[in-house]
Amino acid sequence: MIHKGIVLAGGLGTRLYPLTLAVSKQLLPVYDKPMIYYPLTTLMLGGIRNILLISTPEDLRQYQRLLGDGSQWGMNFRYSVQPEPGGLPQALTLDEGFLHGEGCALILGDNVFYGAYLSGTLRRTAQRETGATIFAYRVKDPERYGVVEFGSKGEVLSLEEKPARPKSHFAVVGLYFFDGTASEKVKSLTLSPRGELEITDLLRLYLVEGLLNVEVFGRGFAWLDTGTHEALSEAGTFIEVVQKRQGLMVACPEEIACRQGWIGAKEIESVINRFARTDYAEYLKGLLETLG
Ligand code: DAU
Repeated sequence: MIHKGIVLAGGLGTRLYPLTLAVSKQLLPVYDKPMIYYPLTTLMLGGIRNILLISTPEDLRQYQRLLGDGSQWGMNFRYSVQPEPGGLPQALTLDEGFLHGEGCALILGDNVFYGAYLSGTLRRTAQRETGATIFAYRVKDPERYGVVEFGSKGEVLSLEEKPARPKSHFAVVGLYFFDGTASEKVKSLTLSPRGELEITDLLRLYLVEGLLNVEVFGRGFAWLDTGTHEALSEAGTFIEVVQKRQGLMVACPEEIACRQGWIGAKEIESVINRFARTDYAEYLKGLLETLG
């Protein structure tokens, strides 16, 4: 059972300048919450409560200020600096004391997931002890992502990072489950032409071993982009629309922690007091009433 998660929240965020000149991209608002809440709660839905958060030397303190040691949500957070954005696979080797050779889930701090069956899919995936699992999602513009090509029986034929001529419309989303061999595999990777370690190169090592599982997130599912100003604004609107329509919050860590049984009424009440006179506090009050 995988019970450790890494949230990668570094990078330069240059595509969102000037928004990200002084603020880390993954702290920008997506409607009413910091972006990082969305990937973080995705891991929580998968039952993962031991988290390593990685960011830049300049930004890490802001994450510590926002998230603390995790105990407010019945979780455990530790933090690590990525000195330079040398590629996503670095996340698996920056703090070897965290993984101790165990498997983990890695999620990118700017990826937003929303849809039915998400918790169940994640919980099922976390039970797989061998190999790696990735998730594919159909997009209109696959050339902007890692791309997976499937054969007629659903087998993986190829994996390419931002190909000029994509072989399919299936992007590899920024959520990966790895077994305990991942950090050793990362050490054998070499830099790509753009001077980074590439996640697709790591995944290809699993593919040649016959140990790469791919699940598809279907049409009823939303994997939202936050990579451009337009996409970021649309992601916020999407969350706003869903929340207003249902009167339920997307990615509320207190709610998820409470439903998981990691915290109780006492912890929720302390947030209500701290956030007094906000819609967030009102929501938590309602939650306490429904949960009795
Ligand atoms: O979002 C899914 C895509 O994420 C995948 O389809 C691609 O295969 C994967 O390479 C990645 O593509 P991006 O173009 O989004 O990668 P980018 O370099 O922008 O990094 C993604 C996030 O991770 C971004 O918020 C910054 C952060 N990051 C990135 C690098 C390279 C780090 O924190 N450290 C890094 O070293």
